[in-house]
Amino acid sequence: MTNVAVVGAQWGDEGKGKIVDWLSVRADVVVRFQGGHNAGHTLVIDGETYRLSLLPSGVVRGKLSIIGNGVVIDPWALLEEIERLRGQGVAITTENLRIAENAPLILPLHGELDRAREQARAQMEGGTGRIGTTGRGIGPAYEDKVARRAIRVADLADRAVLEAKIEELLLHHNALRRGFGIPEVDPAELRDRLLAIAPKILPFAEPVWMRLAELRRAGRRILFEGAQGAMLDVDHGTYPFVTSSNTLAAQAALGSGTGPDTVGYVLGICKAYTTRVGAGPFPTELHDEIGQRLGERGREFGTVTGRRRRCGWFDAVLVRQAVKLGGIDGLALTKLDVLDGFDTIKVCTAYNLGGQLLHHLPAGLSAQANVRPVYEELEGWRESTRGARSFAELPANAVKFIKRLEELVECPVALLSTSPDREDTILVHDPFAD
Ligand code: GDP
Ligand code: IMO
Ligand code: MG
Repeated sequence: MTNVAVVGAQWGDEGKGKIVDWLSVRADVVVRFQGGHNAGHTLVIDGETYRLSLLPSGVVRGKLSIIGNGVVIDPWALLEEIERLRGQGVAITTENLRIAENAPLILPLHGELDRAREQARAQMEGGTGRIGTTGRGIGPAYEDKVARRAIRVADLADRAVLEAKIEELLLHHNALRRGFGIPEVDPAELRDRLLAIAPKILPFAEPVWMRLAELRRAGRRILFEGAQGAMLDVDHGTYPFVTSSNTLAAQAALGSGTGPDTVGYVLGICKAYTTRVGAGPFPTELHDEIGQRLGERGREFGTVTGRRRRCGWFDAVLVRQAVKLGGIDGLALTKLDVLDGFDTIKVCTAYNLGGQLLHHLPAGLSAQANVRPVYEELEGWRESTRGARSFAELPANAVKFIKRLEELVECPVALLSTSPDREDTILVHDPFAD
């Protein structure tokens, strides 16, 4: 038996939440290890929809849920989310939710800076334009962490330290704010806001690395829940159109405080087509009625910002790259049902860059913007796959499609999802069994 890390293999929104929820029945603890409330993970259980941004998806089943040090935590957003889920009948207590005492906080000034920068990028002549961030302060919060000036969860317990750290933080931020023409932040006001929520956050805080070490010793099964996707990874994604954290499975160890051998089986989640929300290169993007149809059938609107997601055919080059970069052992293929009814389905098998055939996405910005997809056409299927719960229920052409994807991306499909509902999932290979 092993632990499992669930990570996105495209540009996010692959259905990680649904798969984590489904797998969490077999796990003892679910751990988030990067990202923040830029994530939006949707679970549908018996017709009821749950939307999670910061809370690990296992919390809905009452599993022990851990927010690791690699996550950037907006404490107000966290409290709101806890209340919202409690309103849906989910029990969230200091027993089943633990957060890393060394996790950095997202403050209101981070969101303000994030949005001011996006506006400035949009208005610039030249430059690379907007990133299309979620505006939630994710990037600025990670910058402060690396710059060693972040306020962390544990600082909420020490007024004197908090005051000193706020001084130092504002030395930097108020200078920036003056430059952007945003009113400066008053240190006493920020301190009071933080001290006001401290008693609500601190009871959840602990050294989670220690808890994970104990769980490991007791042979408990850990499920790591990634946010975003491989192509949004700050090192390996379509930089600078990425998020500000490492989204690959290797981050699960660092972002929670355990060794790399704890991570175990890496399950990459990918849709049977491709979507992206925000700006940046997207070789298989469709601007025609097919793209429209994918978006409508797949209900491709962002969980967090409500933005329409850009849609296109499955890109096997990208997913193969994600498999190699992230050490993905098996894939969960989701939203197969969205492809029902197409006469033909295209899959990108290579790129053409000015007459040169490429089998990977290069790092250069202009190469990323200019690669053209080389497609292979597969026969579609007329029958519905929606809600199928076994391979035997799938049309022959759907099975052929899956087999071809496995060959192209050089990775087996371990799970298949055929609707948003928890139970509409086909298990091919149990990731925990390895
Ligand atoms: P995440 O960010 O990776 O957790 O994915 P999101 O929850 O943001 O987006 C995935 C969307 O697809 C959600 O609305 C899910 O309910 C939905 N979904 C997940 N799996 C399937 C599936 O197999 N078929 C269909 N039609 N929808 C799915
Ligand atoms: P889940 O976990 C899809 C995208 C944003 C933007 C870029 C940077 O639901 O898959 P940020 O606010 O992180 O600085 O924005 O990353 N992005 C996501 N896209 N799914 C997500 O999370 C995302 N989180 C961030 O749209 O392009
Ligand atoms: Mg999402």
